[in-house]
This record gives sequence, structure tokens and C-alpha cells, in this order.
Amino acid sequence: MNLADFVLSEYGTASSIPAPINRMMAAFAADFRQDKDINVGVGYVNERTIPRNLISEAMQAVIAHPEKYKVALNYGGSQGSPNLIDSIKKFHVENSIGGLTQEILDRNEIIIGPNGATSLLEGIAHVLPPGIVITSDPMYYIYCDFLERQGFEVVTVPEDDNGIRTDVLREKLGGSGLGTRKNDVRFFYIVTINNPTGTILSNERRAELVQIATELSINVGRKIPVFFDKAYENLVHDPTVPPLQSGLLHDDYGIVYEIGTLSKILAPALRIGYMIGNDCPFLRAMIQKTSDVGFSAPLITQEIASYLLDHHVQRQIDTVNQGYRQKARAVKGFIEAHLGDVISSCSGGKAGFYFYLTFDGIQTTEDSAFFKYLSRTTGDVAIDGPDTDKNPRVIYLPGEFCVHPHGDLVEIGKRQLRLSYGFEEVERIREAIELMSEAVDYAKR
Ligand SMILES: Cc1ncc(COP(=O)(O)O)c(C=O)c1O
Repeated sequence: MNLADFVLSEYGTASSIPAPINRMMAAFAADFRQDKDINVGVGYVNERTIPRNLISEAMQAVIAHPEKYKVALNYGGSQGSPNLIDSIKKFHVENSIGGLTQEILDRNEIIIGPNGATSLLEGIAHVLPPGIVITSDPMYYIYCDFLERQGFEVVTVPEDDNGIRTDVLREKLGGSGLGTRKNDVRFFYIVTINNPTGTILSNERRAELVQIATELSINVGRKIPVFFDKAYENLVHDPTVPPLQSGLLHDDYGIVYEIGTLSKILAPALRIGYMIGNDCPFLRAMIQKTSDVGFSAPLITQEIASYLLDHHVQRQIDTVNQGYRQKARAVKGFIEAHLGDVISSCSGGKAGFYFYLTFDGIQTTEDSAFFKYLSRTTGDVAIDGPDTDKNPRVIYLPGEFCVHPHGDLVEIGKRQLRLSYGFEEVERIREAIELMSEAVDYAKR
């Protein structure tokens, strides 16, 4: 007897088909050759930035001091380890991160996500009802794709060199834009150092965004939160960038939340993400959500992170940034030398580990000649190499996946790509860029 398949929720149905980017990455990963293929597509941190010895030292210290790190191998509380919360507070105040003071932090709460910043982002989409989410274009595709599967409508606003364009945002929120649908805006999601573009949201824009969200809240008669995702905020490695200010400095109504992660400065595998913001029913729902999905982040990694923040963080951040600074400079040089003639713009390279390139007249989409050359799927054995031993392949993140499919940048997105200088070493990235230059020549044929 033929039975119908399980009944899936709308989210389940939407999630049963892999997101385009996941499908592409999985296809590539399936036969990735470590010593031959080059991955400038993945958002992994550089292995050399991960402080293995310090993590080992921290683990031993945590186990050896149960009087401070109580029950470190047991379940934790769902708000997060008190040690870690204190360490995060101290880390911000002592280093004046974002200009945050003891007074501002005392006025707000800190919670630890069950599994990195990603799990907090996911939690937000569960405790807030579906509606419109405002973000910038290009967008952080991983979260935006999830939001849409979860039933939200993502409305994107293009960015310029200073981040999301607040003039366009005001227009969209005005009468001729969303009109009465502005009542459906659930939250703003703003990545302060954008993924994929590496664009740094200026301090003026931060203040203005909070102002716009405050005005909209007053207009619709209910608080509309702004979530600043500051995943890369500790990775500003260009000395010309002025100190960045937290959105919390401008928050009069308790609508600003900041989401941070220790993935990029310590290790993604610790899975430590945190959120700072006003205590209210929303925040308490987020804590309950952590309990619901696994009680707490693993307490042992929270305590390790606390130890590292207390003892080693500043030197660790300096070392990490020194590494990325050098790589960014070198990679920028390779881009100029090999692709300078065919790109019309290049953002990023000042913080985090992405460059975002716009090509002149060269398509970067999955079905383009450029992509086929680099994935060795042209069908021409002289280019691809024999099936048993394909020539070196390069994986990058095509812009078509980074721009909103119904936004204003669909066409230009087809000529863009994100190049990560995080994971691979400089020499491999040089090779990748040289191959991209060959791919340009091939695409022009
Ligand atoms: C913008 C942004 N937010 C969040 C994350 C994920 O952080 P976590 O490792 O803490 O889940 C990333 C990782 O690449 C990111 O780029």
C-alpha cells in the first residue's frame, strides 16, 4: 500500500530542499581535495588563529578550580554561566568595546545562546511572530534564508560604503514604500561588519538606525527591536577605522540588542554567542528557548571561554588581527594585480575576512563560464583536466546567493562574488586569484 509521506510543517517543507548555497557547497565539499582545491568561499576562520594551547590551558584551569568553575561538566543554567557573563561584561568595559560602560551594561542583561550566535538568531525567529524583517542588501544569506523558511518576509535595503542606506530605508518605511505594512515590521537585523561585503556600518548610521527604529516604534505604538549582529566587530584590523560605537549608546526605549560571538576571536567550536540588551518578556522567552533546545550551551566551553576572556583575550585579539591584516593587504594586492582591469568595485578587507568584488561584464553565477572554469565543469578536458584527476578547482560564494532574490540588486549580484581570506593561506589565495584571472579570459572568449 502506498502511503503519503509524513506531514511536514511549512518550515519542514521549505527546509526539506537544501538552500541553494548549501547544495552548492555540499557538491563541492563531497570531493574537495585539500592539497589541490582552494576554498575561498567558506566563512571558516583561519586555523592558525585558534589558540590551541590556551584552550588546553583554560580547560585544565577550569577542571582544577571547581570552587570558581562549579560543576563545569554538568548542565548549566539557561541564561548562561555567571562566570562567562561577568567575563563578557569585564571584557567590554575594560576594553571600552563599542564605548560600552559599566553603567550601560548594568542596565542591560547578557544571555548566552545554546549554540553560538546562530542559535540566538534562530531563537529570535521563534519567539517573535512572522512579519517583515528589515536588513541590508547584500544580506547575510544564511540567516535571511532561514527567516524566509520560517515564514518571515525579508525586506532589503541596499548599502553603500557606510552600510545600510538610511535614506532609502526612510523611503521604504514611508508612505510610498511599505505604506500601512510598516505595522508588520517585526525587527531590524543589521550586521555591523556585513557578511558578505565586509562593509563597516559607520557610527552615524548606527545612531540613525536606532533613531529610525525609535520613530517607527512610536509611530506604530509598540517597540520594534533592532538586532545588531557584531560577529566581526572585534576583527577590525585596519588602523584607519575609527573606534566603533555600540547601538546601545543611543537606546532610549530598550529596543536595541547586540549579538556577539567568540567564534571569530577564539574558536567557532566553542559555540559561544551572547546577546546584550534590555530585560523584558522577549529576553525571558529567549532564555526559555535556550532551555528548550538543550538546557544551556555546554558549561565546560562557557567556562573555558570565561577563563580565556579573563586571562588572554587582548593579546589573542591582537594576534588574530595582525594575521588578518597581513593577509588582507596581500590579497588586496593580488586582486589589484590580477583582476584590477575587470572589477568595478571591491569592498571589505578592513575588518573580518571578506572582500566582495563586482566584475565588469563577467557573470559569476553557478551557470556562468567563469564558475564552470573554476569548478572544472566546462566539459573541455583541456581546461577541466581528466575526470580522474581534475585540475585545481576554486570555490567562491557567487553574489547571486548574497543579494535578495526579489531585491534591487538581483542583476548586479550576478556579477559579484565574495572572496574569503579567512581559511586558506596567502599563497593558496594568490593561486585562486590567478585562476580567477584565467577564468575571466575564458569567459571573455
Ligand atoms: C554575520 C554573522 N553572524 C553570525 C555568525 C555565526 O556566529 P556563531 O559561530 O557564533 O554561530 C556568522 C558566522 O559566520 C556571521 O557571519
